[in-house]
Amino acid sequence: MKRIAVLASGRGSNFQALIDAIGQGYIPAECVGLVSDNPEAYAITRARSAGIPVFIVDYSRYSSKEDYEAALLRVMQSLHADLFVLAGYMRILGAGIVRQFPGRIINIHPALLPSFAGLHAQRQALEYGVKVSGCTIHFVDEGVDTGPIIVQTCVPVLPGDDEESLSGRILKEEHRCLPRAVRAFCEDRIRVRGRMVSIVGEDSASPA
Ligand code: GRF
Repeated sequence: MKRIAVLASGRGSNFQALIDAIGQGYIPAECVGLVSDNPEAYAITRARSAGIPVFIVDYSRYSSKEDYEAALLRVMQSLHADLFVLAGYMRILGAGIVRQFPGRIINIHPALLPSFAGLHAQRQALEYGVKVSGCTIHFVDEGVDTGPIIVQTCVPVLPGDDEESLSGRILKEEHRCLPRAVRAFCEDRIRVRGRMVSIVGEDSASPA
């Protein structure tokens, strides 16, 4: 059984989707830790309720990003996880960390990459005037939201949408896509050739 660890900075609804999927036997994994840079994150409460060990690396207590990342790396290494899931982790992981875990870190992004990378993706999509948006699960590389795409799904952008309504519609899809990608990883069904990712046993990398 694979060991997965989750990094989250806030609400943690995607983390909860993973906890639930593991609990239901959909994902054959053990969640060995929640790591948070924010001691106020609601994700911490979710971890404690689920009996998942919590590791807080409080960003505000470090004098530099280098010091913070050195501490974060030590925690990540100590977990011996097969997979790290960034589920609403609101910082960019430094190259020094990414290089330690090649092909073993995935992220969820609330837009159809490569459009609208970075912060406030839903707002960017609305301001651009796109008619569809969605979410992307991708491997993390040294860029910002640039790694190979594992799963994407789209939702319509409807007349009258605001950031909240669009975010809510996307979030529902995130809660489906993230467990699906993590399940495929844990079942060793993900194949990567360059930027091309396929999931063995699935016809496409979009949900049916
Ligand atoms: C999600 O929209 C995710 O795509 C983005 O941050 C948000 C986190 O939500 N990276 P939650 O903390 O999982 O509820």
